[in-house]
Amino acid sequence: MYTLITGASSGLGKELAYIFAENNFNLVLVARRKELLDKLKVDLELKGIQVKVVVADLTDVLSCFELFDSVKDLDITYLINNAGFGNLGYFNDTNLNIELEMIDLNIKTVHILTKLFINNFVEGTIVNIGSLAGYIPTPIHATYSSTKSYVNFFSRAVNYELKKQGKNVRVLTVAPGPIKTNFNQVAKASKSHGMETKKCARIIYKGIKKRKEFIIPGFSLNLIYFINRFIPTRMLMMFSHKIQSRK
Ligand SMILES: NC(=O)c1ccc[n+]([C@@H]2O[C@H](COP(=O)([O-])OP(=O)(O)OC[C@H]3O[C@@H](n4cnc5c(N)ncnc54)[C@H](OP(=O)(O)O)[C@@H]3O)[C@@H](O)[C@H]2O)c1
Repeated sequence: MYTLITGASSGLGKELAYIFAENNFNLVLVARRKELLDKLKVDLELKGIQVKVVVADLTDVLSCFELFDSVKDLDITYLINNAGFGNLGYFNDTNLNIELEMIDLNIKTVHILTKLFINNFVEGTIVNIGSLAGYIPTPIHATYSSTKSYVNFFSRAVNYELKKQGKNVRVLTVAPGPIKTNFNQVAKASKSHGMETKKCARIIYKGIKKRKEFIIPGFSLNLIYFINRFIPTRMLMMFSHKIQSRK
C-alpha cells in the first residue's frame, strides 16, 4: 500500500513520510527540491519500504495531471495534500505573482488532486492540510488565510457528500496552528514558533488511523477554535493583526 505526500521535502510532509514509513507504507514523495527528496528516499528505504520520487512544481496545473497519470496504477490508499506556502505582508505591498502561485498551489492543486483521486479510489482517504488561519480573516496574511479557508470548507463539504453517498472514500481536514517548519522562512517572517513538527505529524497520523473527519492538532488550539465562535470577527481580526505583526 502506498501513501502519496505532496510537499514531502521538508517540514510536516517530511515528518509524515517518516511516520508512514515506520508503519510499513510505501511512499510517493512529491516536491520541487530533488536533492532533498532523493536523500529522504535513501533514508526511508533503509526501513524496508519502496519509495517513488516525483519532482514537480505543483503550481503548474499540468504537473498535477502528470503526477496523477504517473501514480494512478499504484495501490495508493492515502493522498496527503500538504504542499503549501504563505507570504506575509500588507496586501497593497505583497507581490501579485507570488500570490497567484499561492492560489495555484494552496487551492487549485488541492482541488485537482482531490477530484482525480476521489474518482480513482475504490477505498481511500485524502488528507487536506488547511490551517486554523482559514477560520479567521487574517490581516497581513490575507491571501494565505483565504486560500486555507477554501481548503478547510471545501474538504469538509466534500467529505459530507461522500458519506451521504455511502462511498468508501473520505476527505480528512487538518487545520494546524503554527508549526516549527520552514513555513515562516518561506513566508518571510522573522520568527519561527509553534508546535514541534514531529508532534504535529504524530497527532495527524493518529487521527488518520482513527478515521477522524477533522483535526486541529493541540488542545489549546482546539480551545481557541471553539472560543472563536463567540468572538466578533472585528475583534478576531484585531488579535490576529497583532499576532501577525509580531512575526
Ligand atoms: N508551519 C505552519 O505554521 C503551518 C500552519 C498551518 C498550516 N500549515 C500548512 O502545512 C503545510 C506544510 O507546510 P510546512 O509548515 O511543512 O512548510 P515547509 O517546511 O515550507 O514545507 C512546504 C512543502 O511544500 C513544498 N512546496 C512548496 N511549493 C511547492 C510547489 N510549487 N510544488 C511542489 N511542492 C511545493 C515544499 O517543497 P519544495 O520547496 O521542495 O518544492 C515543502 O516540501 C502547508 O500546506 C502549510 O500551509 C503550516
